[in-house]
Amino acid sequence: MEVIIQENPNDGCLLGAKIIAKKIRDKPNAVLGLATGRTPEKLYRELARMHREEGLDFSQVTTFNLDEYVGLPPEHDQSYRYFMNEHLFRHINVDLANTHVPAGNLDDLHAECRDYEKRIKAVGGIDIQLLGLGRNGHIGFNEPTGSLRSRTWIKILSEQTLNDNAAVFGDPGSMPKHAVTMGIGTIMEARQIVLLAFGPAKVRAVMEMIEGPLAAVCPGSALQEHPRTTVVLDGNSSAGLQYLDHYRWIESHKLAWQRYD
Ligand code: GLP
Repeated sequence: MEVIIQENPNDGCLLGAKIIAKKIRDKPNAVLGLATGRTPEKLYRELARMHREEGLDFSQVTTFNLDEYVGLPPEHDQSYRYFMNEHLFRHINVDLANTHVPAGNLDDLHAECRDYEKRIKAVGGIDIQLLGLGRNGHIGFNEPTGSLRSRTWIKILSEQTLNDNAAVFGDPGSMPKHAVTMGIGTIMEARQIVLLAFGPAKVRAVMEMIEGPLAAVCPGSALQEHPRTTVVLDGNSSAGLQYLDHYRWIESHKLAWQRYD
């Protein structure tokens, strides 16, 4: 894992956007894996700005989102499809037909899970996957103790996740308790991963993900085995790390081609 500590979440999001933009410039038909949540909102705003002001071209890009709530139609204002349309897709020149979010409101969700895997394979896999981190260490909606080799599946949300996300859910009582999510095995096949985690609420999950044992109790720790993962943190989320000086040392000794800024 490459661990980069930025001054604040804003700088972290700008760096995340730079990494994704670089991928698109290097490979105009890149396949992006995208995430929802509060964390990447500024990153999406920055990608939209780059499109507007710098001509960053999404016309050949394909996207796959990590997850969707079970039972919510795409037009529901708390669905992840709606989130993506609002925060990114309608601000850039991506072809909406090339944007994929798992459907959470089909009768046969198992078929949807299998189909989602097929659609990812059909375009040659994900070039770069953006991730956030749940307070309990989840990635996508893969909650603690789920299989580290899972494929796209239907998960029951943990109580902690329900509580954390209730704050942003219009009517917390109506919040779905299940989600369709890429599995950890699916996520691990992305050729490159960028995970963002900011703020004091993520301290423990960040410690366990980076410096804890590889263990299903912290799904994010699976990324220790991924060959190309960059974790972008801020001062708060990185505060509990034991090897903080080491990460800063590495960052200050990178060669020009190893840097994103
Ligand atoms: C959500 C999403 C995750 C996200 C995480 C953190 O439930 N399923 O993809 O990374 O929880 O959310 P936030 O960025 O709002 O802290």
